[in-house]
Amino acid sequence: MSLRKLDIFSDLASGFEAGINPYRDLLAASHELPLLSGEALRGKKGAWRQFAAQQHPAFHLDTSPLLLEIGCHNGGILREFAKTLPEGACLGIDITFKRAVKTAQKASESQLSNMWSILGNAAQLSELVAPQELDGIVAFFPDPWNQKRHQKKNRLFSYSFCQDLYKTLRVGGFFWMKTDDEEYHQEVEEALREAGGRKSSLTEPFLQQKQRYTSIFERKFLKQKLPIYESFWLKLP
Ligand SMILES: C[S@@+](CC[C@H](N)C(=O)[O-])C[C@H]1O[C@@H](n2cnc3c(N)ncnc32)[C@H](O)[C@@H]1O
Repeated sequence: MSLRKLDIFSDLASGFEAGINPYRDLLAASHELPLLSGEALRGKKGAWRQFAAQQHPAFHLDTSPLLLEIGCHNGGILREFAKTLPEGACLGIDITFKRAVKTAQKASESQLSNMWSILGNAAQLSELVAPQELDGIVAFFPDPWNQKRHQKKNRLFSYSFCQDLYKTLRVGGFFWMKTDDEEYHQEVEEALREAGGRKSSLTEPFLQQKQRYTSIFERKFLKQKLPIYESFWLKLP
């Protein structure tokens, strides 16, 4: 069974046998990690800011930024965002038990109370986040490069997903994407342009410290001297 096919609000761990995947067992046993899945995600749509303010007193309901990283892997980049935005709230979603748990462990080890990991399929974004709820979305290398030819139809960033994603951004919000696949990048660009997005250069507070946001996959591609396609988008009124 694949997590991809399951409803994001269902008890994902119970669909998998215990004792096989240690991260599935950690998820089932741990209530201390900042990790949200299944039932705990119900009711969060439209209420993420209230959730962040309750859990992280520095978060201001009206002014603090709420950011989502799609495909947050082991949480290394999300942790950098959480450090850069101490008054903000940083959510990361990943589809594997291991990565969602590792992201939550990073938050815990780093004692960051403004970082949460979500286990689930980001394709269900519009069930998880309300229109105009997010201040920023980050997606670095969202689909596995080695499957790109075979997986085109399964790509997360389809035209309709880009439209959904754009709706979840508030006016003034940003979307930052990196990929190794030029054609994929072009398709996302077209969809975002049609949705009304405006391509921009990277803005502060990320611009000065761009190196901090070099992800594991980016490092792999740089090492292989492969091209990287990157764009930063703003939602204008
Ligand atoms: C190629 S890796 C990139 C990881 C990291 N962003 C980086 O740049 O190093 C893609 C990540 O997205 C996650 N992922 C793939 N499809 C997803 C989906 N539909 N929903 C949530 N996460 C997904 C994978 O588990 C993996 O962690």
